[in-house]
Amino acid sequence: MKIDIDQNRLTRELNELAAFSDVPAPAVSRIVFSDQDLRARAWLKDLCAKANLDVREDAVGNTFARWHGSEPAAPAVGTGSHIDAIPHSGRYDGTVGVLGGLEAIRALQASGFQPRRSLELLLFTSEEPTRFGLGCLGSRLLAGTLDPAADETLRDSEGSSLQEIRTRAGFHGPLSSVLLTPGYYDAFVELHIEQGPLLENRGVPLGAVTAIAAPASLRIDIQGQGGHAGAVLMPDRHDAFLAAAEIALALEQAARSTGAIDSVATTGVCDIFPRVINGIPSRVNLEADIRDIDADRRDRMLVHLEQTCTEIAARRGVTITPEFINRDAPATCDPRIVSAIAAVCDENGFRFDRMVSRAYHDSLFMSRICPAAMLFIPCRAGVSHLPDEYSSPEAIAQGTLVLAQTLAKLANS
Ligand code: GLV
Ligand code: MN
Ligand code: MN
Repeated sequence: MKIDIDQNRLTRELNELAAFSDVPAPAVSRIVFSDQDLRARAWLKDLCAKANLDVREDAVGNTFARWHGSEPAAPAVGTGSHIDAIPHSGRYDGTVGVLGGLEAIRALQASGFQPRRSLELLLFTSEEPTRFGLGCLGSRLLAGTLDPAADETLRDSEGSSLQEIRTRAGFHGPLSSVLLTPGYYDAFVELHIEQGPLLENRGVPLGAVTAIAAPASLRIDIQGQGGHAGAVLMPDRHDAFLAAAEIALALEQAARSTGAIDSVATTGVCDIFPRVINGIPSRVNLEADIRDIDADRRDRMLVHLEQTCTEIAARRGVTITPEFINRDAPATCDPRIVSAIAAVCDENGFRFDRMVSRAYHDSLFMSRICPAAMLFIPCRAGVSHLPDEYSSPEAIAQGTLVLAQTLAKLANS
């Protein structure tokens, strides 16, 4: 069976998708359920319909496009990723897995391949935490790891609830209906850019992901005392921002001091109130992201952070209230799927490395309900979540070919 990936079509479609954006190219911003996101979804559903796939959407907008196998009742083989993009990011994060997944299916169709299990492309809603503060919304709901009460409790920066926003976007029904039935997927494989430099540095074109690191994020509310920037003397101050600055530095130190390269911590949000140059900050909202492939080591960083907050609060006379947004376990990828990816690479004579994913992905949550694994391709200098994110058309096509052959193996195994 000869499988031809149409590299030109795939490149063109990635560029077309990148044009659904709220900022000028090369940057991309495509926030979940924004007009651009909805237009991109319509465009994608049209491509799926043209490939004769059966398209359905669930109550949160996860979109499934199915090529029915000869045993339509058998658990399916899934592939896919996300198309939402964080503000001022690039065009490959997530999109390679969605359009690569579609191209893999089209290439298999054109090759004459007949799947026994159905093959299904899955577009996950809101992998990125931008709008609702929590990433992997769609896959958490599919896996049953997010309480459907999130419909009311998750709100965007305008104060609208997930329920209001998804309904306005055309997605109806109870969130509880998103949960997948047990045994829905026999296997799930996600193609993604590495988002790190290892493959490129080693000159290896493919990565078979064996584990996904454990993400945690928290919101830290700091209440100090405001006042006049000229008149309040330094010994009398309770500056909320200075407490926040100490927390961010302590978090950096916590990650650096584990001795493990897999420990990372980032303070990416710092909102200062009242945000005036001649007023002492009275309140700060910090948001921090802490990850490790070793969940216990990650949790030790979290304990250290809590202790540091207590100490800073006492010393500075401010109130510090940390609150977890999420605290997820890591995932182990399914050895059978990793072996299938490895076998496909070997059959083609393609070099590959087994590696961990330090970024999180919807596969983290899919792994809770079905065998799941990921396939990585290199991206230039490991750059991601930035406008100059780049993967070459050749690298994307090679990953897509390996994906197609892996899907074929899994569908007929
Ligand atoms: C996904 O975008 C992540 O932050 O790992
Ligand atoms: Mn991302
Ligand atoms: Mn992604």
